[in-house]
Amino acid sequence: MYRWLHGMPGVVVVGLQWGDEGKGKIVDSIAGNFEAVVRFQGGSNAGHTVVVGGQKRVFHLMPSGVLQGKLGVVGNGVVVDPKVLVEELNSLEEAGVRPRLLLSDKAHVTTELHKMQDEAEELDRGGMALGTTRRGIGPTYADKAARIGIRIIDLLHPDSLREKLKGLYSAKDHILRGRGEPPAFESLYGDLVRYGEILRPYVGRAEYTLNRMLSDGSRVLFEGAQGSLLDIDHGTYPYSTSSNTVAAAAAIGSGVPASAISEVIGVAKAYTTRVGGGPFPTEDTGEAGETLRRIGGEYGATTGRPRRCGWFDAVAGRYSVMLNGANYAMIMKLDVLGELNRVKIATAYRIDGATTDEFPSTPEELGGAAPVYEEFDGWRGTDKAVWERAKEEGISALPKSLRNYVGRLEEALGIPVRGLSYGPSREELVYLD
Ligand code: IMP
Repeated sequence: MYRWLHGMPGVVVVGLQWGDEGKGKIVDSIAGNFEAVVRFQGGSNAGHTVVVGGQKRVFHLMPSGVLQGKLGVVGNGVVVDPKVLVEELNSLEEAGVRPRLLLSDKAHVTTELHKMQDEAEELDRGGMALGTTRRGIGPTYADKAARIGIRIIDLLHPDSLREKLKGLYSAKDHILRGRGEPPAFESLYGDLVRYGEILRPYVGRAEYTLNRMLSDGSRVLFEGAQGSLLDIDHGTYPYSTSSNTVAAAAAIGSGVPASAISEVIGVAKAYTTRVGGGPFPTEDTGEAGETLRRIGGEYGATTGRPRRCGWFDAVAGRYSVMLNGANYAMIMKLDVLGELNRVKIATAYRIDGATTDEFPSTPEELGGAAPVYEEFDGWRGTDKAVWERAKEEGISALPKSLRNYVGRLEEALGIPVRGLSYGPSREELVYLD
């Protein structure tokens, strides 16, 4: 029944670093070529800034493609805080936008209990805190795996929801005891039923819709959240998020077969940032890092926390390219990095006296890794006019130092670079052949 006759039906956009690479901008730029844009993992820990009705807003759950009239799908692999999603629907309504949203009935629900638990567990970790976004992500995925979770479909069935929520309260009782006042049962239950009524028109069997679309030759774009190095299996565990963030998760998290994914776009910043705890070998805690944070506006979209900043890590980058099977890379914020006189790329690590180009499995080993750097001249003074010219003439219009840097990234990552971003707007992007 399902035929993959059409070229490249499913395209995935993923981050090759620790999140905040600028995936949203790439999705925004290419969404016009697709019929649907799908979130497949993560929850309201993600955030990207969009302009709705002339006003800047941060979306955490709503696939941004809805602003271009595309079908926005929130897949089964996403954990949904219904309060956040309802707020996003309201802000779209205020701006006169009626989104085409399809919310998988199988997606798990994040409640106030999960957010309290996330907060409490972070406090308990003390100096070992993971630096989570405190959006209840870990506890929601934990309950899903423990098979005590509440799903979107449950919000539409108040009688069975009551029983399931009772089960959840009793499971959380020992965890939350003495940790502040959880919402009264009836109050949370009432909220969930109310959210269910608001969301009801959007809830559906997303896997059937997506498979039908793909088999009819429609193109579907899968929008990754967080980054590959935050993947629960392959990232810097336990300093990771609680979902699989790599491209393969697009299939599981939306109910399409692995064979539906035909192209993977890896997005990376020209330097590296990380929010939250955990090892970060190329972090620069000196002037260069400070400059990148200031000029790059490196503060979390969801939490406002300052991001840790440092150099491009090609050991990590190659590892991410491998895990995702990225076909090509988009390099973001080259204008920001270009403000520095000299720039660096880590091409290997020294660990216990030995040189390696493999990314370690433990935070201890990664924490002890000393990057081996190559240095390059920066490209200060490259103004917008030069970048505009590159749009017409290609990469040859850009300064030699910049071409050297990008050339070395291609070599180190082992895949072509197909896009260079030089500013926040959708237009500030040079596509390379
Ligand atoms: P959690 O996903 O809230 O559990 O947080 C776990 C780790 O992932 C923390 O280090 C967060 O800062 C990080 N994280 C979660 N979501 C994002 C994101 O969208 N961008 C960057 N880091 C994130």
